[in-house]
Amino acid sequence: MRLDVVSIFPEYLAPLDLSLIGKARRDGVLDLHVHDLRDFTHDRHRTVDDSPFGGGAGMVMKPEPWAEALAHVTRAGATDAAPVPHLIVPGPGGVPFTQAMAHRLAAEPWLAFACGRYEGLDERVYEHAAERMPVTVVSLGDYVLNGGEVAVLAMVEAVGRLLPGVVGNAESLVEESHEGGLLEYPVYTRPASWDDGGTVRDVPPVLLSGDHGAIERWRHEQRVARTAARRPDLAAAAAAVAGLDDLDVRVAAPADAAELVVLQRACWVPELMVSGGWAIPPLEESLDDTVAGLAGWTTWVARVRADGGAPGRLVASVRGRVRPGDPTVWETGRLMVAPDLQGRGIGRALLELAEAGAPPSVSTYWLNTSSAVPANIRRYRRSGYRPVPGEGAWPGTVDLTKRRRP
Ligand SMILES: C[S@@+](CC[C@H](N)C(=O)[O-])C[C@H]1O[C@@H](n2cnc3c(N)ncnc32)[C@H](O)[C@@H]1O
Repeated sequence: MRLDVVSIFPEYLAPLDLSLIGKARRDGVLDLHVHDLRDFTHDRHRTVDDSPFGGGAGMVMKPEPWAEALAHVTRAGATDAAPVPHLIVPGPGGVPFTQAMAHRLAAEPWLAFACGRYEGLDERVYEHAAERMPVTVVSLGDYVLNGGEVAVLAMVEAVGRLLPGVVGNAESLVEESHEGGLLEYPVYTRPASWDDGGTVRDVPPVLLSGDHGAIERWRHEQRVARTAARRPDLAAAAAAVAGLDDLDVRVAAPADAAELVVLQRACWVPELMVSGGWAIPPLEESLDDTVAGLAGWTTWVARVRADGGAPGRLVASVRGRVRPGDPTVWETGRLMVAPDLQGRGIGRALLELAEAGAPPSVSTYWLNTSSAVPANIRRYRRSGYRPVPGEGAWPGTVDLTKRRRP
């Protein structure tokens, strides 16, 4: 991958010679070129900024050096396969930089970065560039830096480490924070028991058990709990991907349990009426059972957005977990949608969301439903599930499974 960075502080990019990114450069995986914007000025003072039209604080970067710099970069790097770079302009008003964006950028052959300083670039630079190459303004986060260089260091590192061969153990990329919409689980190393001078701190015993299924389950629970506690917005972001963007979708907390009980009672009564009286857990379980279920499963709840976007009525839910004793199976269940919102694809999208929450060990999705409600079985079939012959895990039910696509 070719990378060009234009900055008035080329020395700022020196850390890209260090560590894994430096090695990737030396190995030829990253072909990085840093350019001094001042080389594209023509006055004695090598001026790159001027005062803003209309008044106001600060200085604005002049358009002419930028146009020359971009033309130079394009001439220097153009190939038949990649005639222009994708220009990334760091800016606090840009699209947020995410792991998903890092993956998309890692698939491109050529990126160029334009590091702003002062109050930023003259707006006409963006128009000029956009007529010549794809341009994306990208923000590192909702705060203001002095210049784009720090953002470029972060982006090059995040993108570069996704390129084949840059990180020695590619598996370590899979379970990291932000992969699969969840944060990473806590990690520990020797000693197993550490006296910090006042307190003895032990590694969680499950990690020393040698039981890989139990370790996988514990790690998944930790990822879910950590994501719910620190970044509930990530569950909502995952939902947007699944086509639930009109709803507020999050990993459920105990405070959601009472509304969940009400919704599941409403959603399972029709099944009771046709099944003729099989014991139906969602109708029978108590509030305490539901709270306990939240601990053992990852449960997602969807709420309609009230005016102003705040989460309102709880209208749908689904849950998933690794099957105890078998880390290759992901059990989903309690898929429910409020009666007034059924038939809009919410159930299907929630099921996809639950499937996406499965850890990498999972190769089969499994669910169980009443054999007395053919419409539900048809819906699951449309989502790719196939009935397992014979009776399901409980009387009057059928199991359905689906292979996970690699
Ligand atoms: C002081 S900032 C300019 C802020 C600009 N006046 C505004 O309010 O949007 C100078 C430069 O720092 C970089 N920068 C600042 N905050 C950033 C962020 N959150 N993400 C990416 N780049 C940022 C951009 O290159 C920007 O042009």
